Amino acid sequence: MALKHEKSNALWQKAKEVIPLGVSSSFRFHGPKNTYYVARAKGAYYWDVDGNRYIDYSLAWGPVILGHAYDEVDNYVHEQIKLRGTTTALTTDLEIEVAEKFVAMCPCVEKVRLVNSGTEATMHSLRLARGYTGRDKYIKFEGAYHGVHDYVLYSMYANPMPVYGSRRSPIPVPESSGIPKVINDTVITVPYNDCEALDLALKRSGHEVAAILVEPVLGNCVAIGPEPGFLQFLRQKCDEYGIVLIFDEVKTGFHLAVGGAQEYYGVTPDLATYAKAIGNGYPAAAFGGKKELMDMIAVGQVEIDGTYCGNVVSVAAMNATLGIIQREPVLETIFKRGRRLQEGLRSIFEENGIPAFVTEHPAMFGIILAEKMPRDQREWELTDKATYQKIVLAAHERGISKHEVIREPYFLSYSHSEADIDETLNVMADVVHEVKLGRI
Ligand SMILES: Cc1ncc(COP(=O)(O)O)c(C=O)c1O
Repeated sequence: MALKHEKSNALWQKAKEVIPLGVSSSFRFHGPKNTYYVARAKGAYYWDVDGNRYIDYSLAWGPVILGHAYDEVDNYVHEQIKLRGTTTALTTDLEIEVAEKFVAMCPCVEKVRLVNSGTEATMHSLRLARGYTGRDKYIKFEGAYHGVHDYVLYSMYANPMPVYGSRRSPIPVPESSGIPKVINDTVITVPYNDCEALDLALKRSGHEVAAILVEPVLGNCVAIGPEPGFLQFLRQKCDEYGIVLIFDEVKTGFHLAVGGAQEYYGVTPDLATYAKAIGNGYPAAAFGGKKELMDMIAVGQVEIDGTYCGNVVSVAAMNATLGIIQREPVLETIFKRGRRLQEGLRSIFEENGIPAFVTEHPAMFGIILAEKMPRDQREWELTDKATYQKIVLAAHERGISKHEVIREPYFLSYSHSEADIDETLNVMADVVHEVKLGRI
């Protein structure tokens, strides 16, 4: 039975008069009838303004790793604001504490700068790589998302078939009006997991390339993971051509391992970007890496600034969240529950005779309806996305919420209980069966 959304629908009518699309980030817009407004969130749940309760597997696209309104983090943030205010034009000792945590946790990080969003982190990292190498171009993988600055809004979710060109010479597709045309010449796009295409691109332009920017797992394309040897190949080619290897760990950071994807896959980049899970939902972000690179950040060298960089709210949230991740079995708990959910989902699809893949990581995984596992966005576009979209929407109407955009993975938090997993599997079993019978 469909949930009621009357209050959300009325709020959308009001919001659209004063906010474009009625939302502050366009990814929150799902049409006039499906754009919902939230009233409350706690632990693994949120409640919309119509009073519907959902088990949340979107967790704000990943950040809420401990659970919504997590008392220990919130109390610490409040305490620090009362003591220090929210921001001054000076640095606090808290920033040093947080930086030390990054250095201890992340294999590539010898020095780190604290910023406010993943967009800032990737933008600054690219500038740093360009400043370091004296080169302008960079390589981006199709289907990856790195934020909303002009350099990275390319070949993310366009339908690749008509516009991405051949694998041998991909066409970088800007995903927005307003990006200066000159930027096209600085972006080289390559299909993910395609060593041959990458090799070819490097043979043509390797000595003009400042950076290879990669989501180690395609967190913005159903969490398709790297094939064995792919990340190692990137490391090897970056060394060969003097290119800076940047892992965008905004989604993988602290979901895959305490040291992120670089620890999980045993490949150390030169720079890495972080956001989301490092602050449990507060606007916290960072980028860091080798001293040699990071020490180029200096007045008159590579310029990295920001009024709110290092603000007390974000830094306190990072300090508390990272402290809890270091101290408590956060990831172990998430992995245990996530594996149960993944195995349960695999069985549900199998029992219904629907060929499906549930991707690898229990803390962050996608579902792909296909006979053969896709290795990149081009192949994923050919899978049964329409049926999967039906499943996601029907589950939402029964209280299991994952972001409606099906590229987005399921995320789990420390607050998801065994009972939440049971409830989710019961709902998913019903939904998948009804889809199979053609009732949805
Ligand atoms: C891998 C990745 N990088 C960068 C970003 C941009 O982060 P933000 O939305 O904090 O600017 C995102 C956001 O979803 C992301 O998934």
